[in-house]
This record gives sequence, structure tokens and C-alpha cells, in this order.
Amino acid sequence: MTLTSPDTVEYVDSAFVFDRLDFDDSPHEQVAFCQDPESGLKAIIAIHSTVLGPALGGTRFYPFADERSALTDALRLSKGMTYKAAAAGLQLGGGKAVIIGDPSTLKSEALLAAYGRFVETLGGRYVTAGDVGTTSDDMDVISKYTDHVTGRNVAAGGSGDSAPLTALGVFHSMRAAAASTWGSANLAGRRVGVEGTGKVGYHLIRLLTEAGAAVVACDINADALNRATQDFPDLTPATGVIASPLDIYAPCALGATLSQRSVRDLSATIVCGAANNQLVDPTVEQSLSEQRITWVPDFVANAGGLIQMAGELEHKSAADVTPRVEKIFDTVQEILEIAALDGVSTGTAANRVADARIDSARH
Ligand SMILES: NC(=O)c1ccc[n+]([C@@H]2O[C@H](COP(=O)([O-])OP(=O)(O)OC[C@H]3O[C@@H](n4cnc5c(N)ncnc54)[C@H](O)[C@@H]3O)[C@@H](O)[C@H]2O)c1
Repeated sequence: MTLTSPDTVEYVDSAFVFDRLDFDDSPHEQVAFCQDPESGLKAIIAIHSTVLGPALGGTRFYPFADERSALTDALRLSKGMTYKAAAAGLQLGGGKAVIIGDPSTLKSEALLAAYGRFVETLGGRYVTAGDVGTTSDDMDVISKYTDHVTGRNVAAGGSGDSAPLTALGVFHSMRAAAASTWGSANLAGRRVGVEGTGKVGYHLIRLLTEAGAAVVACDINADALNRATQDFPDLTPATGVIASPLDIYAPCALGATLSQRSVRDLSATIVCGAANNQLVDPTVEQSLSEQRITWVPDFVANAGGLIQMAGELEHKSAADVTPRVEKIFDTVQEILEIAALDGVSTGTAANRVADARIDSARH
């Protein structure tokens, strides 16, 4: 429908904005478009839900092809954050921001300051953090202009690198999946393939080798793989892991490694890793089920970093936060029980757990 206002401004399509906010049949509460021509800032802050608490989610600084794809990413990722926080049992909602542009050329103190001031105008409904294209150093800068930021460096009062606790959450997710699959959470002797020996993969290998697992790992970056093999002499380096004989496959590099084709070659009984968006498309989950492979949904397994960010907002120490991350074990057990009892996929079961927590906060 095209409407013309009394002062003859023509609105293109009255359904454009609110239809988009009903992204994926899940309406967003608020979307803010922020612009500061002097610094070149163009940002979109999407608040999907504040039902459980302030909407926490990182700021992605990326040269999006156009504004539509930037908006789509902000809407998609903020909805994902609502479910991730709810499944982790946090009193946090879901939000995400995108800054449009190439961070290597556009990022400046003035731009981050302008962005921080926009975050501040939301009065704490949105809390920002690092993501692709933004770092803890950037969060330190932004924190000069808003209180609503987490993921800062330790020197600036933040909780620092989230990789160790993300890895701890993945490790306990694996233990829970092992208990459900093999009747014991003990990973000693299990053959685990870790794909990606970066920040999270490195710490996961440490936990797995300490637990007595037989770890095989790969990385396209030779330096990252060498560092891991030097520090963990029992580690077996490989050129790839997904198609090798495994009990557990742990994707800790990029997402979208699980496709119809790669799942056919998978010998692992459990898939559990840190990478975001592991499935190429939702149909892959069905194939995993048909092959009796237990998939721990990525947003459940990798919530340790988010739990750390939530702790930072409450000024909690790492010692306070660690038991909260270990509780991911219980969440994964609950999800696997629901999946088995209701005959649904683990992804559906995880969404049910999150939906139940959101609904109980609403009523
Ligand atoms: N760091 C966190 O706290 C955190 C939290 C949640 C989710 N994640 C997700 O976990 C994954 C790993 O995060 P990270 O912080 O360790 O990132 P990272 O960049 O430190 O490590 C990723 C590693 O994967 C390697 N890699 C890339 N493509 C590969 C391929 N095809 N095969 C093998 N190795 C490959 C890279 O060389 C790099 O060493 C990412 O998908 C990230 O989004 C990280």
C-alpha cells in the first residue's frame, strides 16, 4: 500500500518496516538506525527481546554489500542472541549491532565515540560487546561514552579473552553428550577431532588432553597448529579431521562445515564445537538424526563467552563465573532428554528450553 501524507510526503510502502521487524515470524522490539556523517558512522542496533533482561549482543563491523544485508544480519543475529541467552539461563535479552563499512579503513576513535553515545541513548536496553571486526580495545574506547558495554580488557576493568570459558562450555557440553550417548561423561580414550586450533580450539585441546582423550586437530594456519602441537605433545596433527575416524567431531573454526555431503562422511557419534552456525541449512539436522549422530546445538555449546560477558556486567570474577559455565552440562542434558522424549531434533529441543524460559518471564 502507498500512502500520501497531508503534506504530500510519499511513503514508499507502509508495510516495509514492520514486516521486516517480524523477521522469521519473530517480531523485534526495536531497531535503531544511527548516523554520524562527521565520523562516517552508519550503524543499526537491533533489539530482538528484553523480556529476560537487557539485550546483549556484539557489534559487527563489516563492509556489508548494502543496507538491506546489514539490516538482515542485525535482525537474524539479535534473534539468535535471545535464544542463546535464554538457553544459557541468563537474565539477558537478545540484541546485535552492525556498523557498515570496512573496519581497517573506517574505524576511528571519533566513530567509536559516536557509536558509544548512540548506545548510551538506549538507556541500557542494549548492551554491546565485541564481534567480527571489533575488539576488546574497541570496547575499552566505547566504554568512555557508555556504561552499557562488556567484553573489555582486564586492564580496563573487563573480563578479557572469552575463549577459555567458551572452550570450557564446549568441553562440558561434550561430557553431557557422552553421558547421554555412551552412559558415561568420561572422555578418556575417546577420539576427538578438533577443527581449528585458534583461541577456543587451543583451550579445548588443553581440556581434552587433560581428560585423557585422544585428540587429533587441524588448522589451515600452520602457526596455530604448530603452537598446539608444541604445547600438547600428545596431540596428533592432521590436514583435516571431519572425515577421519572419530568419536566426537568438534568444529571450532568457521561455521557451515556440516552439509548433506560432509555428514555422509562423518564417523563421529557426537558433534559438539564452538563454531557458530555449523549447519549449512536446517535439513542437515535431519540427516544427523537419521545417522544417529548427536548434535549439540552451537548456540548452547558455545555460550561460555556470553556467560562471561554477563558476569562482567555484574562485576563477577572468573571464579564466580566458572560454575555457571559448567552448568552448560545440565542444560545439554535437559535438551538431549527433551529431544529423546519428544522425538524432536536437538535444535528444536534447545529452542523449546529457551522459549519456556522466555514465556515464564513474560507471565
Ligand atoms: N572466542 C569466543 O569466545 C567464541 C565464542 C562463541 C563462538 N565462537 C566461535 O568459535 C569459532 C572459533 O573462535 P575463535 O575465537 O577460536 O576464532 P580464531 O579465529 O581464534 O580461531 C579459528 C581458527 O580456525 C582456523 N580455520 C579457519 N578455517 C579453517 C578450516 N577450514 N579448517 C581448519 N581450520 C580453520 C583459523 O586458522 C583459526 O586458527 C568461531 O566460529 C567463533 O565464531 C568463539
